[in-house]
Amino acid sequence: MTVPPAEGESARLRSHAWFSRRGKSGYLHRSRMKSQGMPHRMFDGRPVIGICNTWSELAPCNAHFRTLAEHVRRGVYEAGGFPLEFPVLSLGETLLRPTSMLYRNLASMDVEESLRANPLDGVVLLCGCDKTTPALLMGAASADIPAIVVSGGPALTGRFRGRPIGSGTAMYAMSDEVRAGTLGECDFIAAEACESRSAGHCNTMGTASTMASIVEVMGLSLPGNAAIPAPDARRAVLAHDSGRRIVEMVREDLRLSHILTRTALENAIRTVAALGGSTNAVVHLLAIAGRLGVPLSLSDFDDLGHDVPLLANLQPAGQYLMEDFFEAGGLPALLAELGDLLHLDAPTVNGRTLGENLADAQCWNPEVIRPRTRPVQKSAGIAVLTGNLAPDGAIIKPSAASPELLRHRGRAVVFDGVDDLHARIDDPALDVDATCVLVLKNAGPRGYPGMPELGNLPIPAKLLQGGVTDMVRISDARMSGTAYGTVVLHTAPEAAVGGPLALVEDRDLIELDVPNRSLHLHVSADELAARRARWSAPTPAAASGYTRLYVDHVTQANHGADFDFLTGARGAAIPRDSH
Ligand code: FES
Ligand code: MG
Repeated sequence: MTVPPAEGESARLRSHAWFSRRGKSGYLHRSRMKSQGMPHRMFDGRPVIGICNTWSELAPCNAHFRTLAEHVRRGVYEAGGFPLEFPVLSLGETLLRPTSMLYRNLASMDVEESLRANPLDGVVLLCGCDKTTPALLMGAASADIPAIVVSGGPALTGRFRGRPIGSGTAMYAMSDEVRAGTLGECDFIAAEACESRSAGHCNTMGTASTMASIVEVMGLSLPGNAAIPAPDARRAVLAHDSGRRIVEMVREDLRLSHILTRTALENAIRTVAALGGSTNAVVHLLAIAGRLGVPLSLSDFDDLGHDVPLLANLQPAGQYLMEDFFEAGGLPALLAELGDLLHLDAPTVNGRTLGENLADAQCWNPEVIRPRTRPVQKSAGIAVLTGNLAPDGAIIKPSAASPELLRHRGRAVVFDGVDDLHARIDDPALDVDATCVLVLKNAGPRGYPGMPELGNLPIPAKLLQGGVTDMVRISDARMSGTAYGTVVLHTAPEAAVGGPLALVEDRDLIELDVPNRSLHLHVSADELAARRARWSAPTPAAASGYTRLYVDHVTQANHGADFDFLTGARGAAIPRDSH
């Protein structure tokens, strides 16, 4: 029995520093691994591939990942690599309180440190439910080893009473029907199992599908990753092929930073616009760019995305669901249609350029993936607003808003926080009409804490009953990618740090002007100064523990709500010995 020599091809691999050692160190590193039934030949210098798994029954969108990991493992073995699966903190949207976003940065730290501290040469990132994709990308970017993403895939189309219902989007609509008295509670409960009838993440163009698409257009996955349904055998093949490819990427030293460049980020922004993708992409892309030191600012989203047409006719901005998108040709068909709006020379994980990967792409259903000559909407990118109410910016997704409200002036109805909102929103005595602007404070990164998806405040019940379906809403919160409405989000600076949002009072006039990208509070500077003098910061959410770390270090939304001490790549230099 031998170990690889100190010189040679395998000596440059990180795993060499563990598994090729002689003496006590090598013994220690290999012996306990052999307890898992691994033959000695696994330590012959072959690339060691981590399978970073976010499987969890508490993250139901990722609950099929143990099977997915097995397919990755087969591919790694096929290419002569040594696969080692490991868990990281998984984040499920539907159960985590106060919000999964509170834990995105924590999960990213788990990933980064796991990659660096272990004998890994490359990694396959298994991403699915919303936050798992940015968390894994942020961590992998900071460690910067060869990495490839395999997404879990969208769930199959759900049907309720013969009609397709989309994840999240249908829930918001039906919940309003219940509150308006047009749908019964029992019917609403019956819809639960119809909406979620298979493995996979949200099947609307919510945050999970948006992030999976971003991964694909940025070249971080094999082509087709975004749309293959979770239970479809072709996703297992994609996982297998990704396992095979990562071994080659390690041999080529094709690291994340070679692919995830400013060019890739620009492609991502344009694609999000064409998809009518989630507003959450904004904070996640800003955070990912920050990890790589690639310059990206909030205004880039507007500058690069505003003139991009909405081509994907997918909920919540459109009509169809991810299964329809897949059958229509998936993301490659949409990217081919975008054509010259993208940097087609961008490199991708399979060694080919984005353009080369699109050579055979075809659209099979021009209703689902519209041609540029007949878009769902002419210009669909996320709009970045500024003004005295949002000096550091706020965003709105015009494709999910009511066109007639994109220019609107109304009096503010202010909620101090989410408890106040829940206590009063359905109060028949609430002084509100359809022209009012609903304002929610203290739901930003530090204020909530964790910047939850509360920005699409419910329409007051008495207005719903009167047939009102949309109103202008403004907050420092986020909104679910499956939600819709004329909703201004991510207002920065947030109320809890004394942003102007903190100073808004009932009956103030607020003017939203999306065409001119402005958000103005019609209150004089003197009056605002007087209010500021009376304002005091809310008590921080926690005196100790992780939440304390979070509120002390989280950046504002326009910087991606990452921790200030996590920006930048720290690489994967091999740490000193443990013994
Ligand atoms: Fe997991 Fe939507 S709840 S992706
Ligand atoms: Mg979500």
